[in-house]
Amino acid sequence: MPNAYISGTGSFVPPNVVTNDELREKYGIDTTNEWIVKRTGIEARRFSERGIATSDLGLEAAKKAIANAKIEPHDLDLIIFATLSPDHAFPGSGVYLQQKLGLCDGPNAKFVPALDVRNQCSGFLYSLATATSFVKSGAAKHVLVVGAETHSAALDLTTRGRGIAALFGDGAGAVVVSATEEDRGIRSFKLGADGRHADALAQRVWDIKKRPFIDVDENGNGLVPASDLWANMDGKLVFKNAVERMTTVLMETLLAQGWTGNDIDLFLFHQANLRINQYIADMLAIPPEKTIHNIQRYGNTTAATIPLLLDEANQTGRLTPGTKVALVAFGSGFTWGSCLLEW
Ligand SMILES: CC(C)(COP(=O)(O)OP(=O)(O)OC[C@H]1O[C@@H](n2cnc3c(N)ncnc32)[C@H](O)[C@@H]1OP(=O)(O)O)[C@@H](O)C(=O)NCCC(=O)NCCS
Repeated sequence: MPNAYISGTGSFVPPNVVTNDELREKYGIDTTNEWIVKRTGIEARRFSERGIATSDLGLEAAKKAIANAKIEPHDLDLIIFATLSPDHAFPGSGVYLQQKLGLCDGPNAKFVPALDVRNQCSGFLYSLATATSFVKSGAAKHVLVVGAETHSAALDLTTRGRGIAALFGDGAGAVVVSATEEDRGIRSFKLGADGRHADALAQRVWDIKKRPFIDVDENGNGLVPASDLWANMDGKLVFKNAVERMTTVLMETLLAQGWTGNDIDLFLFHQANLRINQYIADMLAIPPEKTIHNIQRYGNTTAATIPLLLDEANQTGRLTPGTKVALVAFGSGFTWGSCLLEW
């Protein structure tokens, strides 16, 4: 059975920086830089322009990851796209990305399978676990895993929506997971979910229980109340569960692997809130130099946070052969996961 390892990383964030002060000055949101920084650590986020789709952000990250892996798009055997902000309700963004990568063009078209994973902030780790299984089973040699989000298009950028609008930003990260006979790579995973809290962080604009699924006027145009249009969140419940679940799943994964926290060179936490991550680091006595964060610059980019961090670590020389890395995430669902790997 081959091992699965990350052979390439890439990332992309849109150039438009929106600071906390700009949320107030440009969008008229009743907030302050102090409020946001104190509770979340976020100083700015990126918003992409109208006309840009999530698959476009994913494409930029994917091209870099493919180049970094020293392969061509046609070497891919599978595309996995993690997002909660897909281009459309359906089909998934994976097929748009496949087309944009040029895999459907000309006589050499390669119609590789493409699937979307809808697991919000844990979506990248669920996708990485899926890619690893494909590679280890021999079903694929190279799998592209993308985490990308366009939150800016679906945030209530008014004072009414400030509890959520201040937290999220746009961005994309990608990795290529490849087969190797070398003794290295992705060692273990643990994934979990607790559907009792499915409504604690949700966007229910599409409500299939209704007939039709969105209320319509006499002309057949959709009418969506603000309470359904925008995401809802019980912030305190999310905070508490994030700390508990991320700490527990990380400990369980380390125990199962026979490693301790001291063995890990780099901890890459999902970037939902700097305070959540500082709690976890304090509880597990993880020194600051063993973590990196980008939430200050990008906000919560959901499925993109961990591949963005992986690419940053790779580009800055933090990942060398043998480096032991722990990845941990928690998000809507609730869902969570942890992965241990040896670079
Ligand atoms: C969102 C979060 C920062 C809110 O912090 P909090 O201390 O729980 O704050 P509350 O929601 O209780 O709001 C307190 C007050 O601040 C206000 N407020 C909310 N957002 C605000 C903002 N951006 N600026 C200023 N005030 C704001 C609220 O309206 C509320 O005012 P009120 O007391 O007059 O009603 C915090 O709960 C959190 O980080 N939770 C986890 C969120 C998360 O990680 N989500 C993604 C998971 S993957």
